[in-house]
Amino acid sequence: MSTESLGHNSVDARSNGLFGVYVHWPFCAAKCPYCDFNSHVHRGAFDEAHYVEAYAQELAHFAKHTQGRVVQSVFFGGGTPSLMDPRSVGGILDAIAKHWIVDPKAEITLEANPTSVEADRFRGYRAAGVNRVSLGVQSLREGPLAELGRKHTVDEAIAAVRLAQSIFPRTSFDLIYARPRQTLDEWQDELTEALWIAQGHLSLYQLTIEMGTRYYDLFRAGKLKMPDEDLSADFYEMTQEMTQKAGLPAYEISNHARPGQESRHNLIYWRYGEYVGVGPGAHGRLLINNQRHATATEKLPFEWEKRVHARGHGMVTDDVLTWEEEGDELLVMGLRLREGIDPARFAKLSGRKISDRQINELKAIGFVETLPNGFIRVTDKGWPVLDAVVADLAA
Ligand SMILES: C[S@@+](CC[C@H](N)C(=O)[O-])C[C@H]1O[C@@H](n2cnc3c(N)ncnc32)[C@H](O)[C@@H]1O
Ligand code: SF4
Repeated sequence: MSTESLGHNSVDARSNGLFGVYVHWPFCAAKCPYCDFNSHVHRGAFDEAHYVEAYAQELAHFAKHTQGRVVQSVFFGGGTPSLMDPRSVGGILDAIAKHWIVDPKAEITLEANPTSVEADRFRGYRAAGVNRVSLGVQSLREGPLAELGRKHTVDEAIAAVRLAQSIFPRTSFDLIYARPRQTLDEWQDELTEALWIAQGHLSLYQLTIEMGTRYYDLFRAGKLKMPDEDLSADFYEMTQEMTQKAGLPAYEISNHARPGQESRHNLIYWRYGEYVGVGPGAHGRLLINNQRHATATEKLPFEWEKRVHARGHGMVTDDVLTWEEEGDELLVMGLRLREGIDPARFAKLSGRKISDRQINELKAIGFVETLPNGFIRVTDKGWPVLDAVVADLAA
């Protein structure tokens, strides 16, 4: 393919017309033993109103480079954004509205932990403009909740979900399964209950052991018995079947929704759109002068704040991606989706075609399929080995 026909796409064509803002809140009440997200427990005095000023400053910096975009979603992720004062959430949303047009139907999500203290702030978040919450329930059983180091009980979590459902137009909650010693029967019961409680959306994650966590040390010391590959695959298959039957099929590897209730923000990542990432350790993908910039900010919360006050942003990485890297990212993100990826868009972004031979080989073993609209997607059989499938198609 000649390079003349490539790389001349408008921002809209390259971003798929998608633009969102991710806001990272890095603080948690305690560190959970399995979690390697950028989350910190701060001790001592903390002036939240002052800290939030750094977000407004950093948003102003990114806005300079992304004028004219329309914000379709904002996501407050963490850490634990439900520790934020609702006035801080409102202040950040006001700052966003000052710099960009916000679509009146924009999805504004906040991640919340389901303790009663946090639930008390839900009405304040709704008044500030949040219209979707995603609750970290993690388990509907007391023993596992305690083992996972969670600060809430099952009753508290269910009450928080119910309260959220009565306040916000859209809600979701997260569960972690394939936990140490968990059986398939136990998960079947737990997931059945979850499907009664859930409304439009559920995120179901298999427990992963991440380096640098307490679970990692326990696992290495042989003190954490994790399911083997076969059992993990059975857990996964059962989860797919049960959610499908309940009307919340997977639209992404770990995310399930009633049609139309998918997380629009996460779809911006997976459909390889454009997004600004502010706050400590946030990542962004920005289209500037027809190049895709991969940005990342300083991870340490107070170092980030210092940097922002000194230079207007906390960025420590700003890499311009090559077309090849863009193509790889599009595959890695898009093949997680049930809808798959558009090979024509891949060719436009990356300047290369996915090899027909690779596609046909993967089709022959039943790992990928081509849909009537020409999109390529990974099949049920291929999902458990997604990483290998992506590597083959990117080769
Ligand atoms: C940023 S975290 C959590 C947000 C919120 N602070 C909470 O704990 O509910 C987002 C989600 O990732 C999932 N998660 C985190 N670490 C995980 C791990 N090691 N394995 C599987 N899921 C994990 C949890 O379900 C969690 O709700
Ligand atoms: S799981 Fe949530 S509450 Fe626990 S440490 Fe990670 S971000 Fe914080």
